[in-house]
Amino acid sequence: MPDALLCYCRAGFEPELAAELSDRAAHAGFPGYARTDRNSGYVEFFADDIASLTRALPFGSLIFARQKLRRFVELKGLDPKDRITPIVRALETTLGNTYTFGELWVEHPDSDEAKPLAGLARAFGNALRPALRKGGWLTQFDDSRKNRLHVVFLAGDHVLLAIGEAGDSAPWPLGIPRLRMHADAPSRSALKLEEAVMVLLNEKERERLFREGMRGADLGAAPGGWSWVLMRQGLRVISVDNGPLQEKLLESGRVEHLREDGFHWHPRSPLDWMVCDMVEQPRRVAERMATWLREGWCRHAIFNLKLPMKKRWDETRLCLDLFERQAHKSLLVRARQLYHDREEITVFATPR
Ligand SMILES: C[S@@+](CC[C@H](N)C(=O)[O-])C[C@H]1O[C@@H](n2cnc3c(N)ncnc32)[C@H](O)[C@@H]1O
Repeated sequence: MPDALLCYCRAGFEPELAAELSDRAAHAGFPGYARTDRNSGYVEFFADDIASLTRALPFGSLIFARQKLRRFVELKGLDPKDRITPIVRALETTLGNTYTFGELWVEHPDSDEAKPLAGLARAFGNALRPALRKGGWLTQFDDSRKNRLHVVFLAGDHVLLAIGEAGDSAPWPLGIPRLRMHADAPSRSALKLEEAVMVLLNEKERERLFREGMRGADLGAAPGGWSWVLMRQGLRVISVDNGPLQEKLLESGRVEHLREDGFHWHPRSPLDWMVCDMVEQPRRVAERMATWLREGWCRHAIFNLKLPMKKRWDETRLCLDLFERQAHKSLLVRARQLYHDREEITVFATPR
């Protein structure tokens, strides 16, 4: 029934997501092809057996996808006076009459072209929801444990219908976790690490891996956004950077500032955490991160890899392979281009 994977990404990163899906699908034994337009903010991936392919590519393992859905219908040339009837008819013909979704999300890709559709998506959602409830397609109250129906507007008369599987998709509309900048945060970069902790770790890991009194290092720390996030998680932090840190952070008494080179300094005794946001060649960062884990200078790490302008998927794979090979440890590694990441990805590594 579903005929394609539908994944959202940062606009401009469609070639990376298409390459990732093609590579991973071929590797898993499901050759197919990707279809996308530059700057559209989404990629469709077609293969014969989407049900098996989606199991082979769990959302948590994808790097350039913000959202992963199973597309099952494309409707073009919709009449603006009645878009509901053809949608309900399409549900009937493709899913039968027994399927009940837990939620309805009416969305549009996060692209310049599709953003003006936000108002239409909201209004249409308000009209479609009661119709689906009446027809038994939607539970009477939102139930996030059940699969979601996504109605994705590509234009006023063009929509995709897709299933968001509970537990195998992002639990945020458009795949974007909404975070607000805290007034005390020393920099906007703080949002990146906050998002990384929220997206790359599950609830149990957050509880287990961040405890009051733990110790961490922040390489490339100035002005201190990431150190501030670690401090708020209860850690004592060594912040390494030649640049100045926010005064308030130093006054907290939980942050020590070292004016050292982040590629040479290492702690005398093992730390719980190391985070790194140094702007440098990604291979050089990946090698240094591997050294930290191999030498046991930290147990867990979150770091950024700034991507080059070209061949970004190839570079991503190369850097992650290099990191895992050189760390010489059995690690759980998760990587994602976060909403707050621009030309970069964020990586979380922890012992298995
Ligand atoms: C993107 S900024 C970090 C922002 C920081 N994460 C925050 O949240 O405020 C990159 C920092 O890396 C530092 N940096 C670059 N190379 C470095 C090195 N070799 N050693 C230490 N710091 C370095 C720069 O001085 C700069 O402050």
